[in-house]
Amino acid sequence: MAKKAKKRALKKKTASRRPRQAPKMLSDLFLATLKDIYFAENKIIKTLPKMAKAAHSKDLAAAFNKHLRETQGQVRRLEQIFKMLNKPARGKPCEAINGITEEGAEIMKDFKNAPALDAGLLAAAQAVEHYEISRYGTLRTWAEELGMPEAARLLQETLDEEEATDHTLTELATSVINLEAEAEYREAA
Ligand SMILES: [Fe+2]
Repeated sequence: MAKKAKKRALKKKTASRRPRQAPKMLSDLFLATLKDIYFAENKIIKTLPKMAKAAHSKDLAAAFNKHLRETQGQVRRLEQIFKMLNKPARGKPCEAINGITEEGAEIMKDFKNAPALDAGLLAAAQAVEHYEISRYGTLRTWAEELGMPEAARLLQETLDEEEATDHTLTELATSVINLEAEAEYREAA
């Protein structure tokens, strides 16, 4: 046998001996995304108290604190779903939430004591909410497709809370921007 042909035959033999990886299924994707949002929620639990402390508006601080308590409940719901899957509750670093919270931290630093701080905090918080809404909507749908109605119900509960928070933040945005405009007017006067 020519050298090249021998080499090719050997390559074919070793390739067939290599164990085939099991195909990734929707259930794998579901678990991976669950780990992603578990990491995100835990990151948010660390970030929200800082945002509440920084906020000038009492209403905004109260909204952040309320959502902190809700987030703790959301983490418990995720832990229940990990349990249903017989998997340990473990997060997987999520670069998306790291990026969004980093932006929030930058705003807190760059706009410290500035009238526009609250508007910036609101924008950062809404970016977080929208990310979560997208993740929970996906997970809820996948749980239904995977025949996990109890998990789907828990995910829907969290999705409802995230949407309500987003709504509250949208309403607060008007009053926060009005306050800011007032402060700027006073400064200019
Ligand atoms: Fe959340």
